Amino acid sequence: MTIITSTTKICALIGDPVEHSLSPILHNTAFQLLGLNYVYLCLRVRSVALGPAIEGVKSLGLLGFNVTIPHKVAVMTYLDEIDPLAKDIGAVNTVVNRSGRLIGYNTDGLGGLRALEEAGVTLTGKKVVLLGAGGAARALSFSIAPLADRLVILNRTKAKAVTLASNLQKRFDKKILSGTLTRDTLLTEMLDADVLINSTSVGMHPKHEECVVDEDLLHSRVTVFDAVYNPIETRLLREAKSVGAKTVGGLSMLVHQGALAFKIWTGVTPPIKVMSRAVEKALEG
Ligand code: ATR
Repeated sequence: MTIITSTTKICALIGDPVEHSLSPILHNTAFQLLGLNYVYLCLRVRSVALGPAIEGVKSLGLLGFNVTIPHKVAVMTYLDEIDPLAKDIGAVNTVVNRSGRLIGYNTDGLGGLRALEEAGVTLTGKKVVLLGAGGAARALSFSIAPLADRLVILNRTKAKAVTLASNLQKRFDKKILSGTLTRDTLLTEMLDADVLINSTSVGMHPKHEECVVDEDLLHSRVTVFDAVYNPIETRLLREAKSVGAKTVGGLSMLVHQGALAFKIWTGVTPPIKVMSRAVEKALEG
């Protein structure tokens, strides 16, 4: 075990709540394995205290931090610089302190892309159906849109899908389709879909018996990626597997977004497999 010393560099998660986060396990496991003198802590920060907390990051000299609910958008006003991808997404999940300058990034979408790549799935020339239009969907869509041949965004609240599609269309000068998430739209869009991504919260613990797509709409020609990571195998993934579809779980996205943040802070690429095993173990309890 790495001993905390007078020169230990501090990284943290800033959010509210933070106590169920897997990020400390993810990062501290990698710090220890690589013998890096860093520690990752969870800091619960209320919305009213966000400004002073960020000032505190600077004055206490934290090396970097992750940002989670409810601060991913609000934090942007307190940063000195924002990476173009995070600006497009409109949210920051990772901040690095470079000699007192706070620079914000968003590694969520790229993390999803890395998870797909790791599973051998490329998006070039493919049709992607993305379910959801919330924070996770925004992050994923800005990494997917430049690569996929066709992107269709379906959301329970249609207006949010339309707005996201229009933002993407402007940014990438590419037609992006959108619609309401219903059985009928899914039936049509699933027929020739190559990749289906669930970025809604449907199926998440404790409502793990819910599934956003009816089983009979799934087929073996589609790769199903569920951004939900708790449970590790969601009902959607289980049913997709049972029809012979390739599946990618949300835990891989969680690990990869963390690994990208780790690289930003330390300059070192962390061991993905070890990080995955550590969070899997924690989730399985
Ligand atoms: P996150 O940051 O995790 O993406 P979010 O921004 O609150 O969380 O987005 C949640 C997404 O899940 C939204 O797309 C939401 O649809 P609405 O925009 O219509 O609210 C979707 N979602 C949540 N519960 C759902 C349900 N029961 N059926 C379908 N979609 C649901």
